[in-house]
Amino acid sequence: MPMIETINLTKRYNDLVALNALNLTINEGDCFGFIGPNGAGKTTTIKILATLLKPSSGQAQIAGLTVGYQNRQIRPLIGYVPDFMGAYQDMVVHEYLEFFAAAYNINGMQRKKVVNDVLELTDLSYKQTAEVASLSRGMQQRLSIARVLLHDPKVLLMDEPASGLDPRARIEIRELLKELKRMGKTILISSHILHELAELCNTVGIIERGELLFSGSVNEILKRAKVGHVIHVGVAERMEAACQVLGTMPGVRESKVVLGDGTASSGGAERLIHVVYDDQSGGGFTDIPNVLINNGFRVTHFQEEPVNLETAFMRLTKGLVG
Ligand SMILES: Nc1ncnc2c1ncn2[C@@H]1O[C@H](COP(=O)(O)OP(=O)(O)OP(=O)(O)O)[C@@H](O)[C@H]1O
Ligand SMILES: [Mg+2]
Repeated sequence: MPMIETINLTKRYNDLVALNALNLTINEGDCFGFIGPNGAGKTTTIKILATLLKPSSGQAQIAGLTVGYQNRQIRPLIGYVPDFMGAYQDMVVHEYLEFFAAAYNINGMQRKKVVNDVLELTDLSYKQTAEVASLSRGMQQRLSIARVLLHDPKVLLMDEPASGLDPRARIEIRELLKELKRMGKTILISSHILHELAELCNTVGIIERGELLFSGSVNEILKRAKVGHVIHVGVAERMEAACQVLGTMPGVRESKVVLGDGTASSGGAERLIHVVYDDQSGGGFTDIPNVLINNGFRVTHFQEEPVNLETAFMRLTKGLVG
């Protein structure tokens, strides 16, 4: 049984169709990246799953329980981190957490222990006597996560938890999410940046204007968007000739000589050949050095460029591939 499932989930705000027959399946222990541009319907979906908004038609289920009908049973199972933190700014951090723990009927010694545990997990123990308002945005975001962990939910619904954070704070959030994943939680996390989620998530869904354009693994996205491998190749001499030879290899979509941009992965500032390679039509790009050597070239550099998820995302959201 999937942990999160939507069946033809539809939400209208008057004339606007914010979600149009959305079908999502997220299994237990999955970390699902929910990606889409502004206004795509991410927050609407998450709020419905969090039992805060009613669908216009279709269904949303958590652990087989239906949102809108079994909300009381669903709420203990979920932790919802909204996109903005909102009120309670004048409380002190540990009071804030104790307040919410009390709301979940966690009492006495147990409450103290749970509050300490979540403070430790989110690395906020040293801020427990600080006012919430005095925390940086990154710390407030971690506190929001700490709050939803108090009742140890199985499912975490997170609406852009890393938005507005500096690179370091983003990494801290990502490390925290990895830890939660290791704890076996099922996580749905939204973002408008695909590559931010690629490392963390095992599955992703791309939504635009209320429609799911794609859902599956990151590798499948790259395949669907037909984003080839980009390989940087260097030879000791006769670069143009080598470039031509590579251009005739099966699977090579493009090969051209470029000036390296000075970074180590591009081979410093030397001239290199950039090869775009499609696995579907060729045998494998690791044949490239052999082909060059067999043609009498001396290979000085051979490196695959990290895959460009942004390109894949743009291609999918522009409807370039079906
Ligand atoms: N309360 C509302 N009343 C009317 N329209 C709304 C309401 N909430 C959202 N919408 C509309 O529904 C659509 C989806 O909005 P939603 O907030 O779900 O998008 P999102 O993917 O979360 O966007 P963002 O990346 O900007 O957070 C948008 O066109 C938005 O204007
Ligand atoms: Mg949103």
